Amino acid sequence: MSLVLFTSDIRAELIRLLEKCEAGQIFILMDENTSHDCLPVLNNDKITPEHLIVVPAGENHKSLASVEMIWRRLSEQGARRDALLINLGGGMVTDMGGFAASCFKRGIKFINIPTTLLAQIDASVGGKTGIDFNGLKNEIGTFSLPEAVIIAPCFLKTLPRRQLLSGFAEMLKHGLLSGGRHLRKLLTSREIDTSDREFLCLVEESVNFKERVVKTDPTERGLRKILNFGHTVGHALESIAMREQAEFYHGDAVAYGIIAELYLSVLKMGFSRDIYNRVRQFILDLYPEYTFSLSSELLYERMLHDKKNQGKGVNFTLLEDIGKPVIDNYCSREEIMTALSVLPKTD
Ligand code: GLY
Repeated sequence: MSLVLFTSDIRAELIRLLEKCEAGQIFILMDENTSHDCLPVLNNDKITPEHLIVVPAGENHKSLASVEMIWRRLSEQGARRDALLINLGGGMVTDMGGFAASCFKRGIKFINIPTTLLAQIDASVGGKTGIDFNGLKNEIGTFSLPEAVIIAPCFLKTLPRRQLLSGFAEMLKHGLLSGGRHLRKLLTSREIDTSDREFLCLVEESVNFKERVVKTDPTERGLRKILNFGHTVGHALESIAMREQAEFYHGDAVAYGIIAELYLSVLKMGFSRDIYNRVRQFILDLYPEYTFSLSSELLYERMLHDKKNQGKGVNFTLLEDIGKPVIDNYCSREEIMTALSVLPKTD
């Protein structure tokens, strides 16, 4: 099982880890942004310039073409089986780098250094790797664990608020799934302050929660499905936003997905209407309005393509209560349409 390391000294932590890994060659995968903003922070003399691999930034480059380029670079630079790939970036880089590493020469080691809140909370932890394909998110990928995930708050300091909000939605999801103090703290935090110790503790708690779930069920046969809460509607929203070329982040989609799926939980599982109203208002106050109109029909049609379905309709993780998720709830078209009607700008 991979190791999640929290550190305020990324450079020292990386040096320690590289010594432990005893890699023959070290490669770093980045996008254009992290190569400019984050690589200088590592400042590691074990890394030679020809072993730096840079892909264009943006989810639309999480593609087979980019992976082919990564494999070609590894191959041309003579990467051996004992090579190690460091993925330095957001979820796009850690997902795609993990996938490239897991297939190259039937698998080389990799380390994730997530540089966005979203990647720290979710993407880089738990061994899901992949690329988008045929218009579908993460359609091709593997379950492959990194040697380690290094989480360094220094990378969060320069992130725009929109990016932070995107990761915060996954924290909110973890709070609803785990319950208790974690959720209360999240619902009372009005601003995301990455230099606040309290906030960094919440990040750590959130990552530890995900680690616990993933340890119990690494390949999503059962318990890990709880992490899909908010994502059935969320992924459908996100794919429509992508088609509309709207500026709408993964976490924005998850936040609105949480609203709809909590409402489904009220309808089907007896989840408290008061708590639903509170969470809904919290999200509407915090998250930007989406600028595109939504048709419930189109959203529903996108949900039918969700990977989690097993031929019986659309599969949801719902909540009976805070901290009490229930997996594998197949909902009728009518129930889903009712739940979607609580989203803004939906006809
Ligand atoms: N993002 C959900 C999971 O890793 O299972």
